[in-house]
Amino acid sequence: MKAPLTIVVYGKGGVGKSTMCAHLALTFARGGRKVLLLGCDPKADTSLRLLGGVRPATIVDMVSGLKGTRFSDLVAHSRPGLDVLETGGPQPGQGCGGRSVATLCQFLEEHPRELSGYDTLVFDVLGDLVCGGFVAPLRFGFGRDVYIVSSEETASLFAANNIVRVASEPYHQGVSVGGIIFNLRQNDARREVITAFAARLGVSVAAVLPRDPAILEAEELGVTVFEHAPGAAAAARFEALARRIESRRGAIPGASARPMTNDEFRTFTRENRAYRPSPAVAVSKEKRAR
Ligand SMILES: Nc1ncnc2c1ncn2[C@@H]1O[C@H](COP(=O)(O)OP(=O)(O)O)[C@@H](O)[C@H]1O
Ligand SMILES: [Mg+2]
Repeated sequence: MKAPLTIVVYGKGGVGKSTMCAHLALTFARGGRKVLLLGCDPKADTSLRLLGGVRPATIVDMVSGLKGTRFSDLVAHSRPGLDVLETGGPQPGQGCGGRSVATLCQFLEEHPRELSGYDTLVFDVLGDLVCGGFVAPLRFGFGRDVYIVSSEETASLFAANNIVRVASEPYHQGVSVGGIIFNLRQNDARREVITAFAARLGVSVAAVLPRDPAILEAEELGVTVFEHAPGAAAAARFEALARRIESRRGAIPGASARPMTNDEFRTFTRENRAYRPSPAVAVSKEKRAR
């Protein structure tokens, strides 16, 4: 059997990973793929969006004895061709979220027959990989194509650089950094800076997605933009991104990426400013000059 298309999406919290995963998974399913979306975030927000706000059963529920251990006890059906499976997570301040992700990977490994019913796996992973548990999809060999979601903000770029560093470790052989999906925080951010950032890392730009109110509106209604505003530019952009991911699978080995050291990163962000000076800065400069 052909290896499934497997993408693992990483990025700083709040940068748009779940938005990306939900829309990509749905696009793949609408294109005829059999998709399993794996939500690796205690918030379970990807699934909530795809299950009309109904909280799914989770791997943590299984470990706590609240749910059975069969595949069907934990997988929820969202749309034709699209199922979801969530890790869940410990109570805030207790336990370890990364460990739940590793348990999810173990669970998948123990259910090869059920897993073979899918030709597409989409992992939505919390965090920027400072916790080893979040690397589990790569360590278990599920993740082949890593996609990084980042905005133009420094903290988000910092996380992106960290992720490239992990993905390009020699012991993650076979992992490919498919690209950075830039999900802009401010639409007037300097595009040349994000392009330069990706080029410096030796990673391609998979997409540049502007901020779009249709996405927030859809989220409030508990649906995707395909349902809320199918004509919105964001819908076409997600579809184009899904096509690109399908056509470029495994194309760029992680080992060819060139992560920066933290010092190099600081120099880069000092020399490449994503934001133009605000009018307040110009006024302050003028006052100082007087
Ligand atoms: N391109 C965008 N335009 C407008 N809002 C967006 C966009 N991408 C994400 N959002 C919103 O930003 C918030 C965080 O996104 P989310 O996907 O939950 O981030 P993450 O999963 O990385 O923590 C959500 O409210 C989401 O609807
Ligand atoms: Mg999320």
